[in-house]
Amino acid sequence: MAPKDGISFLTILFVCFIASSALVESDINNLHALRDAVTGSEGILQNWFNSEIHPCNWTGITCERKTVVAIDLSSVPLHVPFPPCITAFRSLRMLNLSRCDLSGNIPETFGNLQNLQYLELSNNQLTGPLPFSLYDLKMLKEMVLERNNFSGQLSPAIAQLQNLTKLLISKNNISGELPPELGSLRNLEVLGFHHNRFDGSIPEAFGNLTQLFYLDASKNKLTGSIFSGISKLLNLETLDFSSNSFVGQIPNEMTHLKNLKRLVLRFNYFMGGIPKEIGNMKQLKQLFLSECNLSGTIPWSIGDLRSLSELDISGNSFNSELPSSIGDLGNLTFLMANGAKLIGSIPKELGNCKKITLLRLSFNAFTGSMPVEFGGLEDVRHFEVEDNNLSGYINDLIQKWEHVQHVNLANNKFSGSILPTICEAKLLQTLDLHSNDLTGSIEETFKGCKNLVHLDLQGNHFTGRIPEYLADLPLRTLELSYNYFTGVLPVKLLESSTVLEMNLNNNKLSGHIPESIGKLHSVQMLRLGGNFLEGSIPQAIGTLENLTVLTLDGNRLSGSIPQELFNCTNLVMLNLSSNNLIGPIPRSILQLTSLTGLVLSHNQLSGSIPDEICGGFTNPGHPDSEYVQHHGLLDLSYNRLTGGIPPAIKNCVILQELHLQGNLLNGSIPTELGELKNIRTVDLSFNALDGSMLPWSAPLLTLQGLSLSNNHLNGNIPAEIGRMLPNIAVLNLSSNAFMSSLPQSLLCIMSLNRLDVSDNNLSGEIPLSCPGYEESLSSLVFFDASSNGLSGSLDGSISNFRQLATLDIHNNSLTGSLPSALSKLSYLNYLDLSKNDFSGSSPCGICNIFGLTFANFSGNQIGMHSLSDCTTSGICASDSIDHKDGHPHHHVILKAVIIGGTILIVILLGTYLGWKLLRSRPRPMQFEAPTQCESELSSLQLIPPQALSS
Ligand SMILES: *[C@@H]1O[C@H](CO)[C@@H](O)[C@H](O)[C@H]1NC(C)=O
Ligand SMILES: *[C@@H]1O[C@H](CO)[C@@H](O)[C@H](O)[C@H]1NC(C)=O
Ligand SMILES: *[C@@H]1O[C@H](CO)[C@@H](O)[C@H](O)[C@H]1NC(C)=O
Ligand SMILES: *[C@@H]1O[C@H](CO)[C@@H](O)[C@H](O)[C@H]1NC(C)=O
Ligand SMILES: *[C@@H]1O[C@H](CO)[C@@H](O)[C@H](O)[C@H]1NC(C)=O
Repeated sequence: MAPKDGISFLTILFVCFIASSALVESDINNLHALRDAVTGSEGILQNWFNSEIHPCNWTGITCERKTVVAIDLSSVPLHVPFPPCITAFRSLRMLNLSRCDLSGNIPETFGNLQNLQYLELSNNQLTGPLPFSLYDLKMLKEMVLERNNFSGQLSPAIAQLQNLTKLLISKNNISGELPPELGSLRNLEVLGFHHNRFDGSIPEAFGNLTQLFYLDASKNKLTGSIFSGISKLLNLETLDFSSNSFVGQIPNEMTHLKNLKRLVLRFNYFMGGIPKEIGNMKQLKQLFLSECNLSGTIPWSIGDLRSLSELDISGNSFNSELPSSIGDLGNLTFLMANGAKLIGSIPKELGNCKKITLLRLSFNAFTGSMPVEFGGLEDVRHFEVEDNNLSGYINDLIQKWEHVQHVNLANNKFSGSILPTICEAKLLQTLDLHSNDLTGSIEETFKGCKNLVHLDLQGNHFTGRIPEYLADLPLRTLELSYNYFTGVLPVKLLESSTVLEMNLNNNKLSGHIPESIGKLHSVQMLRLGGNFLEGSIPQAIGTLENLTVLTLDGNRLSGSIPQELFNCTNLVMLNLSSNNLIGPIPRSILQLTSLTGLVLSHNQLSGSIPDEICGGFTNPGHPDSEYVQHHGLLDLSYNRLTGGIPPAIKNCVILQELHLQGNLLNGSIPTELGELKNIRTVDLSFNALDGSMLPWSAPLLTLQGLSLSNNHLNGNIPAEIGRMLPNIAVLNLSSNAFMSSLPQSLLCIMSLNRLDVSDNNLSGEIPLSCPGYEESLSSLVFFDASSNGLSGSLDGSISNFRQLATLDIHNNSLTGSLPSALSKLSYLNYLDLSKNDFSGSSPCGICNIFGLTFANFSGNQIGMHSLSDCTTSGICASDSIDHKDGHPHHHVILKAVIIGGTILIVILLGTYLGWKLLRSRPRPMQFEAPTQCESELSSLQLIPPQALSS
């Protein structure tokens, strides 16, 4: 409270005190006291401050013989704490202070107003619990306190307000259970307490509120099942129990409520189905049953709800058909049944519901074609059947819908071509047909659709050219990717002044990108990847000031990257990968300060990586949006880049993925790499780097994938690697010149999934045990230490690595006999122990590992060479096969499935995010596999196959 407010508040208290303590109280004095309390409202309550006018004639005041009986100052912005002097008007019958901008608490003296019948204080900022004296106002008929910040609980003393007909306390912060005493207020007609924090169940006593015609209990934390007495509330017209945690069946007795006009039960946890006799509620106009966990048959009687105008059954699991009786609902305007697990065909009778304006049947399993009767939906404005299994032709329908604005038929199996008659639906604004089997050309098709704003034809089989007339439509999004469009980019279309998003990815477009593309001023997202475009990247692209996403990947573009491109300073994502671009990465990349994704891989770029590479990657400039995720991806892989990795890489603070593999980089790994605190994957493989592997000492907590293979790195694998990379899942150090031993801390990293140290100069023993760790904690699935100088023997602790699917340690100097524990590696499918000095008896237990498909023991002194020896008599005596250990116990399988599943989810999530970054809106049918050899860090199969199949 500001000091000034504080002083005026004290003045009010003082004035009110004088007023109410005067021995002979007169309401005229009280009115003067009240006026003093609201002096700030002089401008609005003008006659209150005119001494000529009698207080009983002031605005909002009603007197009877000089006693005030009513005060109505509603919507006068008093902007004061609740004036306590109000409670001095002992004859007051009506008090309305709604929308007065009141704050503070209702004073305990409120109980003085013993004659009060109508109390309305809604839409203020009143706080605190309801004063106990409020429950003493025995004459009260209406109490309206909604939209304040009242807290505390509702007292059982409410039972004293026997004359109450209306109680509205919605949108407050009142908590606790509903007092059963509420049920004794037999005169109650209107009861609303939505948007509070009531919990517990609704008391059975509510069954006595037989006068109720309005009951709103929505948006609380109520539990339990719907009280059985509800069927006695025969006067109910509005019933809203939505957004609570109610359970149990929706009782069939509820259908006795024959006067009900509005029934809202959505967002609860019911079970069972829609009550069989729902059709009894003949007055029902609105029935909202979405997200109710309902299942089973939708009762035929639903068709008897002839008054019904809005029906929402979306977000349930009916696993049944929509009954054809739905066609009897002649008053229906809204039908929402998306995501309701509906099956079978869409009933043709629905076409009889002539008043439908919104029909939403998306995300179900409807089959068959759209009934021709739908042509009769003459009022339909929104029509959505996205993501079903619908098939057949669609032309004849849409063209009949005179008022239709939004049509979504995406993700079905609609076929045939689209005819220009579709534009007889003159008001069409959004047409989403993505992921269907539509064919033919669109060279004339949409010419007449003069209101078309969003056109999505992604993922069909459209052919022919992309027509010029599209430039004449008010299009904001044009999504034509994943079709078979041919020919050159239409010059005129690239001059459209309305398009914000254009996606022509993955077609068969050829020719050059014309300079006129600079006229596509408004464009924010431009995707032309996966075509046969050639020539150079036009300089004019640099004039597209609002461009945030540009993807030209997978074409035949040549020449160097034009400097002008870096005038597009709003770019967040730039993907020029898989072209024939040459020359250096321009230093003016520094200008792209919003950049969070830069993909230049698979070109022939040369020169060194400029120090300016981290011009962007410093801070996410914009919030994430549907098109823009601030993923932090820098991919310069598979080019001809030379020189060292610049220490300035440390400026890429938001970088999560760094791919520099497949270049000619040399020098050592800069210590600054260790400063990237968000980095998740680093791939530096296939370069000519030398020096040590982790030239820093602080741990990199975020790093999960690191590939350094095929370089000239040397020195030791640091003994403390387990501390430095505590969350690493994939580590590839193969084909370098690492020496000395494998540190124990490496194999003991719990998150480690895949480890490749093959083809180095490692020596010493393989450290197979992790002191202090439970044996089952290792998640190592792939272990390749082949072609080193490792020595020593394998012992029983190999079985600590329960998840191993690949074990390749061939071409070392390992000795001793093979431990029988090897046969406990029940997920093993690839085992190469060849070219060592193992000796002793044949490891026949291995023959029992169910999924083992490759094993090589050759070049040792043991009886077996390969799996085919398992059946050779004389080598593996049958009694040496340990049947008991052949298969894992169930809990082991379960654990593996859980771990494997988690890994799979992580991989899918990673892949999805990466994909979402590179592609436009995700389309389930259009998941594109990486076209070229991506980093092994993103394409690894980490799941033990048996874990998936069991
Ligand atoms: C209120 O105003 C009316 C006329 O506007 C007048 O007749 C009446 O006397 C006034 N009442 C009092 C108490 O002054
Ligand atoms: C209810 O109102 C009536 C008058 O309408 C009155 O006589 C009765 O006393 C009131 N009931 C209570 C409990 O005050
Ligand atoms: C309804 O009122 C009657 C009579 O006062 C009472 O006996 C009964 O217990 C009440 N019902 C409930 C469920 O409280
Ligand atoms: C629409 O509802 C009214 C009653 O609300 C009913 O009389 C009328 O028959 C209904 N119309 C149709 C076509 O069912
Ligand atoms: C770029 O975006 C801004 C902000 O949305 C807008 O005011 C401006 O007109 C746009 N520029 C062009 C050329 O469309």
